[in-house]
Amino acid sequence: MEWTTELRYKRYEDWTEEEKKQIKENMANSPWHTHYHVEPKTGLLNDPNGFSYFNGKWILFYQNFPFGAAHGLKSWVQLESDDLVHFKETGLKVLPDTPLDSHGAYSGSAMQFDDELFLFYTGNVRDENWIRHPYQIGALLDQDGNLKKIDQILIDQPEDATDHFRDPQIFKFKDQYYAIVGGQDLEKKGFVRLYKAVNNDYTNWVEVGDLDFNNDRTAYMMECPNLVFVGEQPVLLYCPQGLDKAVLDYDNIYPNMYKIGASFDPEQARLVDVSELHNLDYGFEAYATQGFNTPDGRALTVSWLGLPDVAYPSDRFDHQGAFSLVKELTIQDGKLYQYPVEAVKELRSTSSEFTNKETTNNCYELELAFEANSKSEIILLADKEGKGLSITFDIANGQVIVDRSQAGEQYAQEFGTTRTCPIENQATTATIFIDNSIFEIFINKGEKVFSGRVFPHADQTGILIKSGTPTGTYYELDYGRKAH
Ligand code: FRU
Repeated sequence: MEWTTELRYKRYEDWTEEEKKQIKENMANSPWHTHYHVEPKTGLLNDPNGFSYFNGKWILFYQNFPFGAAHGLKSWVQLESDDLVHFKETGLKVLPDTPLDSHGAYSGSAMQFDDELFLFYTGNVRDENWIRHPYQIGALLDQDGNLKKIDQILIDQPEDATDHFRDPQIFKFKDQYYAIVGGQDLEKKGFVRLYKAVNNDYTNWVEVGDLDFNNDRTAYMMECPNLVFVGEQPVLLYCPQGLDKAVLDYDNIYPNMYKIGASFDPEQARLVDVSELHNLDYGFEAYATQGFNTPDGRALTVSWLGLPDVAYPSDRFDHQGAFSLVKELTIQDGKLYQYPVEAVKELRSTSSEFTNKETTNNCYELELAFEANSKSEIILLADKEGKGLSITFDIANGQVIVDRSQAGEQYAQEFGTTRTCPIENQATTATIFIDNSIFEIFINKGEKVFSGRVFPHADQTGILIKSGTPTGTYYELDYGRKAH
């Protein structure tokens, strides 16, 4: 089927019950569903949205196109969780159903005000000439789950920006609410703009200025900027599309990167003593990472394990995209660490020594240790011939290499089939999560992270130690109840 613009923007109410039933049936036949990672109930999932704590629950939404694996008319779909591990859909959606969001309820964030949750998002509107008008708009969710859209543009497209202006993130700093919005200026360069809520009123925003984070001005658009605080230190997470690889090399079609500041100066719209740019993730896909500070001050993030403009093997089963585990950010010795929240350990059902083995359903966690000066290769999702996802811990030469060229159905090969990250030659640990079509690898408890998708063949369910003597533990994971 060809995804024409007409089909992608067909109104939700025009999809027939029969069409929806076929999509459901096709999805049910997919061999690549996850066990314990969030995936869409139907169609495509992309960015995490509205990650927040409200009414005694963790709230998270996902960008969704419900009618297949395509980027079409987008909405938000709500999930809630008691433990940041088990998420279930509540049924609530932010639909593209008003004149201010008629062509998509695009990405955004959330913040509690009094006893309501304010959702701040981009209304994507196309006029009769298919010209795009991005409006930063809002909605309020009450404690009984009623959603009321605010019938007013909260931040309009600035005169010095193109129609690429979106993804508002609201945050609080020293009792004042701010927002940042990603955009593109008239020279086609990406920026992140800072706004301030006048009298802390989320319907009244004034521009402070472009955030000064030592922007090298090589990217043409900054998608999904997020400013979160780890202690006093601001961490700016963003997706600089088109970033010059001479500034910082990356392999994926679009990168997700970050900078850390010593402090945040809102008056000057500035990250003070800002760090170099870093890749957030060394794997094949992690994008549009959304972070927020919890009421108790932690910085939590979740990433889309997918990328724009990439076709996936699961597309033919009418689904695409999944979320990473929820990660907590910390800074140790000036370095950013990302590590799954503690509650993920509750998924462990059995534990045994890490050895060669056949797994039942590729649903496990590994905790491994490697000695300095060593070199080991392990194959996960291995078939009888030992073909699968290869991970080489070449500690002696200071690198970890992930090679997915033998792991099931291939895609996006033009961006390479291996990923590498530098490490120190010293005793090293790796915590690895496998979930059928997902891997997440955390080196040294989150100092470096590789995330990605794999689409294994049916016989790729083994674990093989190909060389070296890594030691560790294998934990089978049990999600208990499937979230959706
Ligand atoms: C990033 C993104 C956002 C946009 C959303 C639309 O993946 O392009 O910039 O708001 O997806 O679904």
